[in-house]
Amino acid sequence: MIAIGSDHGGYELKEHLKKYLDEQRLEYHDYGTYSCDSVDFPDYAELVCRSVIENKTDRGILICGTGIGMSIAANKIAGIRCALCSDIMSARLSKEHNNANVIALGGRVLGKEYAVEILNTWLKTDFLGGKYNKRNDMITNIESCYLGGK
Ligand code: RB5
Repeated sequence: MIAIGSDHGGYELKEHLKKYLDEQRLEYHDYGTYSCDSVDFPDYAELVCRSVIENKTDRGILICGTGIGMSIAANKIAGIRCALCSDIMSARLSKEHNNANVIALGGRVLGKEYAVEILNTWLKTDFLGGKYNKRNDMITNIESCYLGGK
């Protein structure tokens, strides 16, 4: 199950990506927003990422105007590895090397069809494991050192 969420800046792209998910028969839960009315992106980053770390969903898609705010907010949550992707190679490597469990996309930055290609690559690529486990563990160690920090 995939979690998907956006703010108003990502709403149109979210709706477009949902059509792709439907075509692929991939199950998702849409955590909003549900219109172009202005909202605050951290609320949606939190909803989507919470569902991932609570194992209600196994991966998440976040969309705001640039993807930047969503990715910053998502990466504050322990256990989330959110990759802001604007190209296909980054989408592939964010899975192969970083085992990203959330992707952030920019609705005002990406063409809709290119965003579908980026998402398709991300969803269909697997983590390589091996030496990349160690590096991910190092990130988790940093995370635990600074939990609750300022
Ligand atoms: C909202 O106007 C915009 O700031 C937001 O969608 C996002 O781009 C933030 O990073």
